[in-house]
Amino acid sequence: MASRGGFNSRIGFIAAAAGSAVGLGNIWKFPFEVGDGGGAAFVVIYLAFAFLLCFPVMVTEIAIGRRTNKNPVGAFTDLGHKNWRIVGILGVLAGVLILSFYNVVAGWAFGYFVEMLMGHFTIGQNFGTFITDMVKVGSYGVLFMVATALIVSRGISGGIERASKILMPTLIVMMLGLVAYSFTLPHAIEGIKFYLLPDFSKITLPVMYNALGQAFFSLSLGMGALITYGSYVDKKENIVTSAAYITLADVGIAFLAGLMMFPFVFSQGLEPTGGAGLIFVTLPGIFGTLGPTLGILVGATFFLLLSFAALTSTVSLLEVPVSYVVDEHKVKRKKAVGLVAGVIFLLGIPSMMANGYSGFFSHFITYLGAGKATDFMTFIGHIASDSFLPLGGALIAIFAAYVWKKHNLNEEIEQGFPGFKGSLGEKYIDFAITYLAPVVLIIIFVLTVLDRFFGINYF
Ligand code: PHE
Repeated sequence: MASRGGFNSRIGFIAAAAGSAVGLGNIWKFPFEVGDGGGAAFVVIYLAFAFLLCFPVMVTEIAIGRRTNKNPVGAFTDLGHKNWRIVGILGVLAGVLILSFYNVVAGWAFGYFVEMLMGHFTIGQNFGTFITDMVKVGSYGVLFMVATALIVSRGISGGIERASKILMPTLIVMMLGLVAYSFTLPHAIEGIKFYLLPDFSKITLPVMYNALGQAFFSLSLGMGALITYGSYVDKKENIVTSAAYITLADVGIAFLAGLMMFPFVFSQGLEPTGGAGLIFVTLPGIFGTLGPTLGILVGATFFLLLSFAALTSTVSLLEVPVSYVVDEHKVKRKKAVGLVAGVIFLLGIPSMMANGYSGFFSHFITYLGAGKATDFMTFIGHIASDSFLPLGGALIAIFAAYVWKKHNLNEEIEQGFPGFKGSLGEKYIDFAITYLAPVVLIIIFVLTVLDRFFGINYF
């Protein structure tokens, strides 16, 4: 597959896939989902989904990609009946929709880097003004999309692999430092309790499906991002251990983000239910308390690293539709990148305006039975990340277990992992994709749609 390019090394693949997984989902979204979901109970459910359900789906995605050397649409066509390409198309669509709003938030993160460089620690209180400044938000959005497009147009090993290997470890070290600092603040302990002491009476249906959507989103699953990355992986690689490292890195960083955020939130007397603004409102003030020099240094580095974490994710989001257009419609990579990135940027403009700038997009839709309107950006998130991804995950599991068939999946995994067949790991993955994932994911998907969009809730 030399003509398609590939990862140069095992660590390169793991770093790139972990780079895809680790992003705004961990540092921006996870803490506010925990805050909205009532704290530690959400964390417990999230962890259970990540390890028991998502991990087997991840192994399956990588195996499908490596077997076919194709983008998701081509992969399903190759291994199954032509009709299964619909799963790939759903994935491409999810990638397009997610990137359209993800790029906007990534732009905010980069904008905060610039604000921190200028020592604007009060930007947290002025978050609302910042996100309605269309000149700023628009320019940062363009910048971010262009950076993403440049990396994707350079192909796999040159851009994606190299960047991920350096940036990921730096981010982890920086976060550990911030966690340590957060523990020294007054009222930190209340934050830690909120985050780590579960109150199981808080587990409701929305907590379940938000935790599931978050696990899929954070692990980049259900839309074929890892089928696409898997298509560049060498047969020598052990898919199961690679997937384990990717899952651990992703969950670990989300966990650290929460550990850092809740002491900060409680020490500032803020509400953990701050929603999408949580990190943007909370963190600048915290950096300010470090004094001007250290504050600028830590604040700017933090938001720069957050931007890079987002960049390795936007790259994987763009790679899915691009590899589809390149493989299936025989368009040259550079042209495909320009085209797809341009369309996605335009699709993101309503999301840019959905945070107070435009009344129409800020109160875009009122679901049946809901008391208040949902903004456009949140709406796209509900559709693409919370609905399409778990549905895609269910279909991928069903496809592998019943259409492609388990012995083929196991054979693919066995390459690079001699002894997999007959092992406990094989038995669990078989069980998970044959029964657990299809049943649980379909049930939760149906309940989510009924409850969230139609206000029908039997629980
Ligand atoms: N996992 C990424 C994050 O947490 C987002 C993402 C979702 C990337 C789906 C690729 C595919 O930020």
